[in-house]
Amino acid sequence: MGSSSFTVPRGFLWAAATSAHQVEGGNIHSDWWAWEQAGRVAEPSGAACEHYQRYAQDFDLAASLGHTAHRFSIEWSRLEPSEGAWDDQALAHYVDVVRALRARGLEPLVTLHHFTTPQWLVAEGGWAAPKSVEAFLRYAGRVAGALRGLVKFWITINEPMVYVNMHYVEGVGPPGAHSLRDALRVTEHLIRAHAGAYRILHEASGAGDARVSIAKHAPVFVPCRRWHPGDLAATAVTDRVFNGAMLEALTTGRWSVPGVAAFTVPDAAGTLDFLGINFYGRQFIRLGRGNAGWKGCGCDLGHHPREVPERTSMGWDVHPDSFTRTLLRWRRLKLPIIVTENGTTMADDADRWRFILRHLQAAARAMEQGADIIGFCVWSLLDNFEWAQGYGPRFGVIEVDYQTQARRVRDSARRYADVCRSNAIPLDVV
Ligand code: FCB
Repeated sequence: MGSSSFTVPRGFLWAAATSAHQVEGGNIHSDWWAWEQAGRVAEPSGAACEHYQRYAQDFDLAASLGHTAHRFSIEWSRLEPSEGAWDDQALAHYVDVVRALRARGLEPLVTLHHFTTPQWLVAEGGWAAPKSVEAFLRYAGRVAGALRGLVKFWITINEPMVYVNMHYVEGVGPPGAHSLRDALRVTEHLIRAHAGAYRILHEASGAGDARVSIAKHAPVFVPCRRWHPGDLAATAVTDRVFNGAMLEALTTGRWSVPGVAAFTVPDAAGTLDFLGINFYGRQFIRLGRGNAGWKGCGCDLGHHPREVPERTSMGWDVHPDSFTRTLLRWRRLKLPIIVTENGTTMADDADRWRFILRHLQAAARAMEQGADIIGFCVWSLLDNFEWAQGYGPRFGVIEVDYQTQARRVRDSARRYADVCRSNAIPLDVV
């Protein structure tokens, strides 16, 4: 067999990602913590990976594995545990985190909002209330000030439409709402929050060096029955709501889903400096079998139709070709792309690596066709708290023993390290 490979551009960001609530432990002031205490999840997050205390050791591992960057999130509820009461120690902690990354040669990719919101804000209406936008911008201002000059790459909001769907439509995260009206309000507020934060982060960076985006969950939606006009129509609407409308809003300032709603946020125009893309698999849409949330448009966002030939251990679809398709589709925005999340749970770690490698190869195929991809973050550096599903799913390339907090580097992490170090994606092995 030959040894063909695709060499990525110089300075490519090789990374793994985490989010605060999923790894830090003890986030007692967040809405998810309260939700967990109310028994709404498989198990509570508790001490998680104690990453709040163990970050330096975890970054040692990331650096030893050839990573050149690291994506993580700041926990707003630690900085502002009650309204207007700022915890300077927590802010200093994140300055230390960023310095620890830089000291190890890891470029920080910093997310401001990754699914969790301070409990005090959720008690006052959360993201459905207009004050959420001002509150978020005060928080963004604090962070931008403290990390001035230390961070270039920012992600304001992780997967805004997944957040809306999980928390305000399907109700599987706090506040557990099932309201299309609220979902629409939250969508608008998240866009306003992103647009405001975009300016704040740029102003704070002075020299204009900041690069700001969202992390866009950008699945390929597929009709369950390819011949069924209803499924085809529902797929088109879902794609518009999840993918098209959001990205159009952040480029043109106008959000619209024909026949549903439209609004303008002029400030949001041109607020993507790069595009963060999260990709896991395809999602299948069937008209008229709506889950609670999508009764409004009568479609089902289910992951598991019978005809999916390959699945992860969580039952999610595996389809690397769709990843290439997504990357090529959003090339039209003419922005550099960072793959801000891609990874999987598999019973056997060899299958985890096969999944990651096939998606790296899919990214290489997109790059060959002109997609300007400048970085790739594996989800996740560590096994962690997978939201409503608790600790069962294991996404880490590093295994965490939750009893002892011991870390064990999986073979998939070593294989990924080989790719990072060689700066090239092997194309002829699967
Ligand atoms: C993404 C989330 C991330 C993690 C992965 C599996 O949607 O951004 O926090 O839960 O899925």
